[in-house]
Amino acid sequence: MNSFELFHDCVKDISLSPVFQSMDKFVQHGDISTMEHTICVAYCAFNLARKKGLDYRTTARGALLHDLYLYDWHIKDFKKRPPLTHGFTHPAKAAENAKKYFNISDAEYKIIRNHMWPLTIFHIPPTKEALTVSLADKHCAWRETMGTYDNSPLRKEIKKYISFIQSDN
Ligand SMILES: [Fe+2]
Ligand SMILES: [Fe+2]
Repeated sequence: MNSFELFHDCVKDISLSPVFQSMDKFVQHGDISTMEHTICVAYCAFNLARKKGLDYRTTARGALLHDLYLYDWHIKDFKKRPPLTHGFTHPAKAAENAKKYFNISDAEYKIIRNHMWPLTIFHIPPTKEALTVSLADKHCAWRETMGTYDNSPLRKEIKKYISFIQSDN
């Protein structure tokens, strides 16, 4: 089993679901959707967790759901616009949606709820897995913003996984 096959085995109930794939229509950065961003974070966190001997299944699952807030935070329509406090409020919304749509563990919930630390100052990642996802999120967001992700081999791999999960439905 290669790395992506093992990753898929850990998260397939999430990645193949319509609610997860609905994030493909929300913009994260530039031409990168929130779905692509969450897969990037989940795959990077999963690999880091495997290297460090952590619970890579929980890490991948929590990471894949960490931004399941289900709206476009760039939206210009004032009535539909999410609160200006999006950075502070979206972890709670994502955690609530993750519970509503998926069968998640307490450890996975904690990953989602605490991923924005230190912005959400009182929500400190309580486990190594949660800290790994919080760091992977910042790493991926930085690469997406600075453009170093755009034409990278990592993005090619992520795109291949997206084609795979979209063709499976
Ligand atoms: Fe987030
Ligand atoms: Fe994120």
